[in-house]
Amino acid sequence: MKMWSGRFKDATDSAADAFNSSLGFDKRLYKHDITGSVAHCTMLGECGIITKSEAEAIIACLNTICDDITSEKLEIQNAEDIHMFVEEELTKRIGTIGKKLHTARSRNDQVALDIRLYLRDTVDEINLLLKELILTLCEMAEENLETIIPAYTHMQKAQPTTLAHHFIAYCEMFLRDCDRLRDCRARINVMPLGSSALTGTTYPINRARVAELLGFDDVTKNSMDGVSDRDFAVEFLSACALIMTHLSRFNEEIIYWASDEFGYISLDDRFSTGSSIMPQKKNPDMSELIRGKTGRCYGNLISLLTTMKGLPLAYNKDMQEDKEVLFDTEDTVKSCLSIFTAMLPTLKYNKEKLYAGASGGYTVATDCADYLAKKGMPFRQAHEVIGSLVLYCTENGKKLDELSVEEYKKFSELFETDILTAVKLENVIKNRNLVGGPAPKTVLAEIKNIRKILAKKFPQE
Ligand code: ARG
Repeated sequence: MKMWSGRFKDATDSAADAFNSSLGFDKRLYKHDITGSVAHCTMLGECGIITKSEAEAIIACLNTICDDITSEKLEIQNAEDIHMFVEEELTKRIGTIGKKLHTARSRNDQVALDIRLYLRDTVDEINLLLKELILTLCEMAEENLETIIPAYTHMQKAQPTTLAHHFIAYCEMFLRDCDRLRDCRARINVMPLGSSALTGTTYPINRARVAELLGFDDVTKNSMDGVSDRDFAVEFLSACALIMTHLSRFNEEIIYWASDEFGYISLDDRFSTGSSIMPQKKNPDMSELIRGKTGRCYGNLISLLTTMKGLPLAYNKDMQEDKEVLFDTEDTVKSCLSIFTAMLPTLKYNKEKLYAGASGGYTVATDCADYLAKKGMPFRQAHEVIGSLVLYCTENGKKLDELSVEEYKKFSELFETDILTAVKLENVIKNRNLVGGPAPKTVLAEIKNIRKILAKKFPQE
């Protein structure tokens, strides 16, 4: 019999029952649901809304239910949702007293609480995975402070930089992801219980106490908003979508760097796959899957935004649709971060090819122009001169760092022998020692800074 069946004459159609049920996916919330119920019940007892011994009995039973689910003694089944399941099990075990748990509460504020408790943990777990990834990148960067690579704009060789500089560019993105998740956590960490169905309750409850018991920073300030706000869930999905954007960009690069045409990376056997027909193949499936899964995370964000956009106050059943997208994004982001962090250190970067790549494509042309500008020629004019120098090189099959001083001088009298050192890749990089630049010393300082930031963000370790 349904807990709400009093005003019904007929039983629910079985297809409608199945359609209505969220148990198949919200069973994932059981621990958080029980944690919330224990806090609510503690408060009910403290406020004298139920007796102390009733509260104790309910809490003890809730805890055994939780243990039984975890140890798989008790299977979650045959209920409308996880909230009903736990309550039904409670009354099965301790009878009428169990029916007092739902005093001064509705499933509307209960589910809002559960999702907030759940997402709070999820955010912390994803942040730890981001931390691991950033640390891995820092280590790889430290080993490649002087590994010269070509850097691109428009997918055309632009200027030389180092692999370390390239790696810590991604560290910056992932650090912002940590910040975004923390920022969103602050809005998750507000306690909605007490909103009840939508207009609160007449019982003398103590909301602040429940918040304190559960480690929330504050309580929600409007009961209608308290039950129908899912902004925090949208923010979570949005922060995760951006994590996926960053992963996807990185993996896109890995995919074509590992191609025969580039040959900058060779993939490790443990993280690549073969073809069922072409014996020679070694495919970057991990990277492609991460890139591909980015789409579903974007979809989850748009899905929840669209679910919410037409909902009048307050709770509407549409909101039950929030859970699958949240769980799917959680699973996707966690698995992508884990596999990527495991795969990264196994990639072999081909240093010779990267160096050769950086020395081709006239990547030191900007430095040639800067050389002239520093000797007094207006930059626009210097740009023009070097443009014709590049044209000369393309027509004669030469590289800028292979030209003799005499050849340089044909284009400007300002060129002297020191142009030969100025266009050396190592010097081009070393001289970019401003904050944010690729000079090995600068990058090393930045890596130290990133490690410091991480230690501050994750003080427990
Ligand atoms: N399973 C529901 C959900 O996920 C719980 C809240 C149900 N509330 C209600 N009034 N039917 O949203």
